[in-house]
Amino acid sequence: MPALTFSDVLIIPKYSEVESRTDVEIRVLLNQKICLTLPVISANMKSVTESKMAIEMAVCGGVGILHRFMSIEDSVKEFLNTRGLMSQRISSTSYCNMVGVSIGVQDEDKNRFNALCEAGARVFCVDVAHGHSKKTKDMIKWLDENAHPRQEITIIAGNVATGEGAYDLADWGADVIKVGLGPGHACTTRRATGVGIPQLHAIKEVSEEFKAQGINKGIISDGGIETVGDICKALKYADAVMLGNFVSGTSETPGHVFRDENQNFYKVYQGSSSGESKNESGYTVEYIEGISKKVPFRGHVKHILREIEQGIKSSCSYVGAFNLEQFKEKCEFIEISDGGRTESKL
Ligand code: XMP
Repeated sequence: MPALTFSDVLIIPKYSEVESRTDVEIRVLLNQKICLTLPVISANMKSVTESKMAIEMAVCGGVGILHRFMSIEDSVKEFLNTRGLMSQRISSTSYCNMVGVSIGVQDEDKNRFNALCEAGARVFCVDVAHGHSKKTKDMIKWLDENAHPRQEITIIAGNVATGEGAYDLADWGADVIKVGLGPGHACTTRRATGVGIPQLHAIKEVSEEFKAQGINKGIISDGGIETVGDICKALKYADAVMLGNFVSGTSETPGHVFRDENQNFYKVYQGSSSGESKNESGYTVEYIEGISKKVPFRGHVKHILREIEQGIKSSCSYVGAFNLEQFKEKCEFIEISDGGRTESKL
C-alpha cells in the first residue's frame, strides 16, 4: 500500500442526521490548556505570524505562533505587544494567552524561553526541521524540568513524521506534537535530500501510534494544505492544522504589498530555510531547503478563516458528525484514480 496524501483520497459521504451545518460544533481541546473554536494555527514563519496575524487568528478562534527570527528582546516586545492588542480585541480573559511563541534548540534558546516565560508566554513551540533528534530531546527535557509553573505551560514540539518520532517527543515531555516533514509549499527538503513522508500518511501513523500506546497528546498537522478539503481530511487524524501558504499574502502577514509589472498586487511568502530568509536573519546561507515566492495579495485573513470554518462544518455534516470527535470516528477515505482527481478538481 503506497503512502498517501490529501489529493490521493476523498472523504466517503455517510448517512447524516445533521439538519443544519450550524448544529455542528468544531471546538477542540488541543490539550487541557488550549481550546480552539477553529482548529487552525498560523505557522511560526517570518512571512506569516507576527502580532497582526496572531491577533486575528485568536479573534477567529484559532491560534497564531509568533516566529523566532528576531532577537530575544524583540521576541519579548512582539509577544507583549500582541497580548496587549489582543486584550483590546477579545474581552474574555481566557483567551489572553492564546498566542504562541517559538524557540529553537540551541543553548541560547533557554534564555529566550526564560525571557518569554517571564513576560507571560505560556504556549511554546519548539520546532526544528528534524525534531526526532538529540538536540530536540535535550531541549524538551530541559523545558519539562525547568518550565514553571509547568502545569500552565504547553510545549508544542516537532517536526516529526513517524509514529516512533512522535512517541519519543511525547515521552521526552512534549504536550502537543507537530507533524510534517517536507509537505510545505515553500519547502524543498524532499527535493534537496530525498527525505520525507506524504503528509496524510504521516499524521495517520502518528495518530495510530498514539492510540495503540494510549497516549493522549494533541497532534498538529503541519504543511501541505492546498484546499479547505485538505484541512477536513487532516482532521481525521490531527486535532488542528498549521497553515503557512494558505494564509499567506493576506493583510495580516508581515511585509509589504507590492505591485508587479502586470499591475497585480502581491506579497512575499518565504520558507524559513530559504536562502533569502537565512540571509535576512543573519544565518550562514547554506543547507538551503526552502524557497521564497510571490503570492497574490488576498485581503483580510478572516475571510479565509470563515471559509475554513464553513468547510469543516459542512464536511462534518456529510459524514453525519455533530462535532470533531465524531468526525474522527466517522470519516473514512476512498483512494481515488487520476481520473477521480481530475473530476474532483484537485
Ligand atoms: P505550508 O504548506 O502551509 O507549510 O506552506 C507550512 C510549513 O512548512 C514548513 N516550512 C519549511 N519546511 N523548508 C522546509 O523544509 C522551509 O524553508 C520551510 N519553511 C516553512 C513549516 O513547518 C511550516 O509550518
